[in-house]
Amino acid sequence: MTAVARKQRSARAESLIETKAGPQTAPALLSWYDAGNRDLPWRYGPDETPDPYRVWISEVMLQQTTVKAVIPYFEKFLQRWPTVKALAKADLDEVLGVWAGLGYYSRARNLYACAQVVAKNHKAKLPRSETELLKLPGIGPYTAAAISAIAFGARASPVDGNVERVVARLFAVREPMPASKPRLRALAGTLTPNKRSGDFAQAMMDLGATVCTPKRPSCLMCPLHSQCAAHALGIEETLPGRAIKGERPVRYGSAFLVLREDGHLLLRQRPSAGLLGAMLEVPSTAWGEAWLAKDEACRSAPVHADWWPVAGNVSHIFTHFRLEMQVFRALVPSDVQLHLWAEPDRCRWLHRRDLQGSALPSVMKKIIAHGLKE
Ligand code: ADE
Repeated sequence: MTAVARKQRSARAESLIETKAGPQTAPALLSWYDAGNRDLPWRYGPDETPDPYRVWISEVMLQQTTVKAVIPYFEKFLQRWPTVKALAKADLDEVLGVWAGLGYYSRARNLYACAQVVAKNHKAKLPRSETELLKLPGIGPYTAAAISAIAFGARASPVDGNVERVVARLFAVREPMPASKPRLRALAGTLTPNKRSGDFAQAMMDLGATVCTPKRPSCLMCPLHSQCAAHALGIEETLPGRAIKGERPVRYGSAFLVLREDGHLLLRQRPSAGLLGAMLEVPSTAWGEAWLAKDEACRSAPVHADWWPVAGNVSHIFTHFRLEMQVFRALVPSDVQLHLWAEPDRCRWLHRRDLQGSALPSVMKKIIAHGLKE
């Protein structure tokens, strides 16, 4: 058989394989969920009434990282601010401090702003409908659907990366991400049952996280394998496809770690808009497209000092670029004067023992740890 004929035959064979996902998907998935539902601090059993506040906080945190990493942050947050009212009255710096390490601090600022709107305009109760939820600060389509389905039992379909993968495989959607997102969302909607849509959504997320994994999915353990078109075609590992991305651009900067003789470090609050908004930082040069020579970099230093270049760099991945930082360190007397260009109003001295629990993003923690190395 010629190569062309072989290709035509395999295309014909593929066209005969259709997904079997449909009305039978939800019952099969919910039985699987009921048998092994993970015991998570924001989950509710069939006889419990979900607290929308807990669902909201957990869903926002879960957009940042894995279930396992979220648990301690969730418990600490809920202990400190157990209700919308408590969060609305919180101190923003403290909220950012508890959030530090989760990343995307704009989400924490939005949580805080949203709590204030809900306390003031909604009698401290989150609204039920997706439309009303979408009007609140920081609540986008995913969070609105998740709250509406999980907390209020409305028929809604929150679609995160795990759900996208499960749906792409069930329906063998070959169109690469991110162009296929609207289609995957629509297909997820067709599978969502009228009842238990919150459990269904969480079951899809669990399936994606534990069985229908990006690499080496455990199809033999999957309650939906007999419905899955990608599995029938043997192409599950290739889906969802991704358009080839360019390399992340790299930015370079020099950070100045100022150690006062009495054990304090110099930190500065970043502007409230933009990346790591309102978080604390180690003062640095602007982050540019190339390294600056030491003399040039030290013109941006916040104090006059004898700057020691710490060996090696700190590398940190942000969504849109990679940051490479070199660190300069100096030991200064307690009465050191800050240069005007260091924006003294934004600067503060923090003792080394108080670093934990301050609003320091991970990248700045890395820079400090690197700078304090002997
Ligand atoms: N990821 C996002 N929300 C989730 C949830 N409620 N359960 C498990 N994983 C999730």
